[in-house]
Amino acid sequence: MAENNPSIFDVIILGASGFTGKYVVREALKFLNVPNSPLKSLALAGRSPSRLSEALNWAASPHLPPKIPLLTADTSDPNSLARLAAQAKILLNCVGPFRLYGHPVVEACVESGCDYLDISGEPDFMERMEALFHEKAVEKGSLVISACGFDSIPAEIGLMFHSKHWAGSSCPNSVDAYLSLESDKKIVGNFGTYESAVLGVANADKLMELRRSRPKRARPAIPGPGPAKGSIIEHQKHLGLWALKLPSADSIVVRRTLSTLTENPHGLPGVNETPEHHKKREAFWSSMKPAHFGVKLATKSLLGLFPVIMLGIFIGLLSKTSLGRWLLLKFPSFFSCGWFKKKGPSEDQVASATFKMWFVGHGYSDSSLASQGSKKVDTEVITRVSGPEIGYLTTPIILLQCALSLLNDRENLPKGGVFTPGIIFGPTDLQERLQDNGISFDFISKKALPT
Ligand SMILES: NC(=O)c1ccc[n+]([C@@H]2O[C@H](COP(=O)([O-])OP(=O)(O)OC[C@H]3O[C@@H](n4cnc5c(N)ncnc54)[C@H](OP(=O)(O)O)[C@@H]3O)[C@@H](O)[C@H]2O)c1
Repeated sequence: MAENNPSIFDVIILGASGFTGKYVVREALKFLNVPNSPLKSLALAGRSPSRLSEALNWAASPHLPPKIPLLTADTSDPNSLARLAAQAKILLNCVGPFRLYGHPVVEACVESGCDYLDISGEPDFMERMEALFHEKAVEKGSLVISACGFDSIPAEIGLMFHSKHWAGSSCPNSVDAYLSLESDKKIVGNFGTYESAVLGVANADKLMELRRSRPKRARPAIPGPGPAKGSIIEHQKHLGLWALKLPSADSIVVRRTLSTLTENPHGLPGVNETPEHHKKREAFWSSMKPAHFGVKLATKSLLGLFPVIMLGIFIGLLSKTSLGRWLLLKFPSFFSCGWFKKKGPSEDQVASATFKMWFVGHGYSDSSLASQGSKKVDTEVITRVSGPEIGYLTTPIILLQCALSLLNDRENLPKGGVFTPGIIFGPTDLQERLQDNGISFDFISKKALPT
């Protein structure tokens, strides 16, 4: 935890000149020095002062940009990162692919004891950082929390919201999240996300190797049978959606949160926690009911899944060789059927897109049914998280609200360590903050299933 030093910025945004970074700056400016906001000082950091200044102008427009320090830092220069970390309470990292650039940034933050949040959706990076830096981060008082963007807060906080609707002795067995992206314009993502995905698939075996070298994590006790295999493509008639299983970071991050919770059933104590927060945290986690969790990408027509299937096949086949990776990275638009572009989406395309993530839970009206050996679930609960475009509107909203929650609530959060966002932000006011900023959490239905 950075000390109370006036030369320290509440937040430094690294990678502020990137496609996502500039939207993060725009979101941050909304909260800089406004009443009731804990964000009193902000600096932007990156390789090029002129690109940072351009990003600040864009983010502030149509207003004149405020006077914000622009700091030079390059992930290949450890001294520049050490200088940055020494000036930050919280560093928001938007420099990806994280598997290429994230390690030295985390290292610098841990060494200096400042807090670190990022928007990574790369499980191998997250788990490697945990393996390398958790103990040191605990010692130094640095909280390191990846996946504070669309990956994986809607999944993490959405599952916790869903869990609340299994009241009393009822309990879920499985929760499937159906992610539907909607727009009256073409849905487009920037190259940075595509490159991160290609490199993630290319290095999947390294993640397996890392996991084999690590102690086995605890698994939660989930009433009822194990996770169902299910079909790769499924028709959810009542949602009007066709869905395809997605190898997403979300289910991995959620699983890690549930493991930490199983190892710490009351959650993680704050460094200087108030008795009220202690009570709130214990009550929050005691009502959390774990479930088998998976994510599926959903579209209104079967044909809508075609580009996703093609992209999956191309990345699966080509990412394993250097020539294949070169082709994938050279022609993103071709291999992704126009979903990813080197120049990213236009502002109009960003503004017109939205998402809905439906959480369909199946379980028991009474958990004793599962302990009596019943395999057949008798209850269905549906909840939903929805909001604006995922990569450049929802992700900056989430990242900023995580940072503000951290600034407000630091004493109630653990001294340090490398953690998933759910275990840290679950018992805070993050869900309310997201709701206040355009991301909705809704209860849709609960019904008995024929047994
Ligand atoms: N969680 C989510 O849902 C979500 C959403 C959006 C994005 N993301 C992730 O965010 C990452 C960035 O995506 P993007 O589309 O914004 O990429 P981008 O436009 O390529 O931006 C990359 C940024 O990193 C900076 N950078 C690159 N190399 C650097 C280095 N050696 N030292 C310092 N800065 C360096 C670039 O600075 P220059 O201006 O100097 O080149 C730029 O600011 C990706 O990993 C993507 O997957 C996640």
